[in-house]
Amino acid sequence: MIKAAVMGYGTIGSGVVEVLTENRDQVAKAAGQEIEVKYILDLRDFPDSPVADKIVHDFKQIEEDEEIRLVVETMGGLNPAYPFVKACLMAGKHVATSNKALVAAYGTELLEIARKHHVNFFFEASVGGGIPVIRPLYRCLKGEKIQEITGILNGTTNYILTKMEREGASFETVLREAQNLGYAERNPEADVEGHDTCRKIAILTAMATGRQVNFEEIYTEGITKITDCDFKYAQKMGTSIKLFGTSRIGEDGRVSAYVAPVMVGKNHPLYPVSDVFNGILVKGNMVGDTMFYGSGAGKLPTASAVVADLIEAAQNLDQNVEMGWGEEKQEILPMEQTSFRYFLRLAGSHRNKEQDVEKCFGQTEVIELYGMDEFGILTETMTEGEFKEACSRYEGLEKEKGEYGIKQTIRALV
Ligand code: HSE
Repeated sequence: MIKAAVMGYGTIGSGVVEVLTENRDQVAKAAGQEIEVKYILDLRDFPDSPVADKIVHDFKQIEEDEEIRLVVETMGGLNPAYPFVKACLMAGKHVATSNKALVAAYGTELLEIARKHHVNFFFEASVGGGIPVIRPLYRCLKGEKIQEITGILNGTTNYILTKMEREGASFETVLREAQNLGYAERNPEADVEGHDTCRKIAILTAMATGRQVNFEEIYTEGITKITDCDFKYAQKMGTSIKLFGTSRIGEDGRVSAYVAPVMVGKNHPLYPVSDVFNGILVKGNMVGDTMFYGSGAGKLPTASAVVADLIEAAQNLDQNVEMGWGEEKQEILPMEQTSFRYFLRLAGSHRNKEQDVEKCFGQTEVIELYGMDEFGILTETMTEGEFKEACSRYEGLEKEKGEYGIKQTIRALV
């Protein structure tokens, strides 16, 4: 029997205990022996719970107990998760975490410590919740040159955008509703501003390239500026708007990566990924497109991924499994060099603006909605740098006439 400790008895931590209990035989068979939770570290007591006798408040008890070989970190945040995980690895214990903030910020160092101490630092649950995507990257797709990873990696924002699309509701209304239903956090900034997706695409990029990625170098834009009106245009164009985290890896190893709302056509593999679900498209140079779909968050799906990590650690109790990335830094190209088509909403009537639009943006498709004092255009493909220049030229022309210019811009993959 292998003894484990769970640090953090919140939603995911209690889910891990539930999966280990519910699937005890299945887990024992896969791991080669039973996994028993000996300690649960939490600030709180749970006097009426069946795990009441396992609750401890002092981390030292876990760190110093040599019987503990496996540790689950489901506390979230960086402090004390980072020092605790580091200490566990240094004490020769394997760690499985669901904490993407920890992996994105300290993954390089923790992976290195795990290698040195012949243990494992696993984090399948940190990206895509219950969707297996980390392990496929270092196992099934190991022989591939990964060319692109594009994901809908945040359930909260996907739920909000789906509701806005289906019900014609505003961002604020749907966010409030999502908070009342408990889907969105009271402080939803990390989700709606794209920070959560940014950390996840940084982790996936590091997995794909084998190099460390500084998530702060990834251009990140959230969904707070997307309006119900944008969806009216999208509907007319047969498209949808999704929050993408994307990483494109060139032949030369150079990477362009971004997080942003993107207008996508019906033929895009991620178009049908709706509600709280996540979807991840991974393109390999030999295999082509592969898609991973499922519950990107939630108690049992996320706990299931943590338990899979525990099983892999149990199967490799005395060795480090080769995975993750090294200390070499991955350069991320500036966003200015990334190319898209662009959807814009422009004030006024197309008839009056046609020449200025062509002068600045070249050939465009025009989209008009009935009864609106504005119109939409879809540009040809250009770099972000070229697009910014075109926008500032257009704003200049508008200003000369004392008129308002650009009401909205959304990158488009159509
Ligand atoms: N807040 C995240 C989401 C949780 O909505 O997807 C999973 O990381």
